[in-house]
Amino acid sequence: MSVGKIIAVVACSTNMTDTRVLALVGSLRADSHNRKIVEAIQAQAPAGVTVEIAEGLHEIPFYNEELDGENVPAAAAALREQVAKADRLLIVTPEYNGSTPAVIANAIDWASRPYGAGSIKGKPTAVVGTSVGQFGGAWALANTKKSAGIAGAAVLEDVDVAHAYAWGSDPAAEADVVAKFVAAVEKLAVYEGIA
Ligand SMILES: Cc1cc2nc3c(=O)[nH]c(=O)nc-3n(C[C@H](O)[C@H](O)[C@H](O)COP(=O)(O)O)c2cc1C
Repeated sequence: MSVGKIIAVVACSTNMTDTRVLALVGSLRADSHNRKIVEAIQAQAPAGVTVEIAEGLHEIPFYNEELDGENVPAAAAALREQVAKADRLLIVTPEYNGSTPAVIANAIDWASRPYGAGSIKGKPTAVVGTSVGQFGGAWALANTKKSAGIAGAAVLEDVDVAHAYAWGSDPAAEADVVAKFVAAVEKLAVYEGIA
């Protein structure tokens, strides 16, 4: 049986209808490879799966307990609502200085509160990304998984796509690279928790 057929069987045997995936992109630049990869995933998403990018992460102030409470900043409230409404969370991020970019760390912090009841709690979450370094941002992915898990997300530890792209290349234009990311989203979409 071909890989495509196996994926189709998995998709049919589990319910992938109307699965809403919210993507958090760890790079804010317009020409971001990570954003382009999400856009490529959007174009090739499995049937029944929609992938939406959480826009405006740069408008969310750095987490501060004094800002949290009755009057949560609008951008932070919007993120919490988007995360709450999503069936799955997909974090697509480069590595910055061996770790998670601040924009993702901040989004996780906001989604982790109120303590014990943040919108990220129990949310099936996959962390993937591309970086130019030799290991494709593996440290960023490991640290982001750790942080999202502590925040309460149900992190898919076995989804591990840290793609090291060659300087000057366009990983989102490479079919085999995009296929790795689409496969990660397929795993995320069919995830039903730990029995
Ligand atoms: C502040 C900063 C720190 C970086 N640190 C790392 C790093 O630790 N490891 C790595 O592989 N790449 C690092 N890079 C390079 C990124 O992998 C590269 O810029 C990547 O393309 C950014 O993703 P984007 O194309 O989605 O913006 C760093 C880039 C910046 C701007």
